[in-house]
Amino acid sequence: MGMLTTSGLSVSFGGKRAVDSFDLDVKAGSLVGLIGPNGAGKTTTIDAITGFVPAQGSVLFDGTDISGLSSTMRARTGLGRTWQSSELFDDLTVMENLQVASERVDVRGFLRDLFRPRNDDVSELMVILESLDLADSADVLPTDLSHGQRKLVGVARALAAKPKVLCMDEPAAGLDTEESQTLGGRIRALVDGGLSVLLIDHDMGLVLTICDYLYVLDFGQLIAEGTPAEIRANSKVITAYLGERHGGGSDPTGDDGAPVDGAPVGEVGVGE
Ligand SMILES: Nc1ncnc2c1ncn2[C@@H]1O[C@H](COP(=O)(O)OP(=O)(O)O)[C@@H](O)[C@H]1O
Ligand SMILES: [Mg+2]
Repeated sequence: MGMLTTSGLSVSFGGKRAVDSFDLDVKAGSLVGLIGPNGAGKTTTIDAITGFVPAQGSVLFDGTDISGLSSTMRARTGLGRTWQSSELFDDLTVMENLQVASERVDVRGFLRDLFRPRNDDVSELMVILESLDLADSADVLPTDLSHGQRKLVGVARALAAKPKVLCMDEPAAGLDTEESQTLGGRIRALVDGGLSVLLIDHDMGLVLTICDYLYVLDFGQLIAEGTPAEIRANSKVITAYLGERHGGGSDPTGDDGAPVDGAPVGEVGVGE
């Protein structure tokens, strides 16, 4: 039994099926990738899993059906997420950003922290910062960090809420190849430490390198699933990424300003 399992997950916007009967499984302690061209339904899938859009079908989290729960309750049971464009509080230090997040599910705690920052859980949050190589940045403002480090703080902030499963929406968006690989290595290390992760990313090189298993969506439909080796060799995946409607830079910017990765899937090297 997986840690996070969807069955017949479907989302419609008006008459449009953004996600169509998607069965997904994230096993405990595994890193599962969700890929597909812009508009494929990836973000909507995470929105449906975490309770931010109404959906049909079921979502099982750690053996419990959470389909009827609000997004707040889902977060409280240990289902974490990061956003496609995550905003940090630029007037709070890195550590304060984590403190706010660790209390965010508790409104009274959140209000109290506005007036009197808590310090009792700092050591626990420090462990999170250390695991992401951010310990030296605990007391600096996010604006003094590189883009790659800010992304890591976004991940650290999500971890501060102590999720059992973390759904990440394009955490590497806007990073250069080296920063992206660093982030990928950190995510892999978190999973090797026991966290379960559902990762959306358009960087095929990254997901094929670090994920245990992958799902590929196109127009809301599952077109392939399998190990990185199986996905690399899958002709439907290659077509979806190289097909006419995605070629020639006709849609140069996604929501994050990044192009759909146009590299032939079969040629993405592990060591690139
Ligand atoms: N709130 C919304 N209202 C209407 N259509 C939406 C909404 N959110 C997403 N969509 C549509 O659903 C489809 C899937 O979007 P999305 O999940 O954001 O794709 P991806 O994350 O794979 O790029 C797209 O066609 C998008 O335009
Ligand atoms: Mg998206």
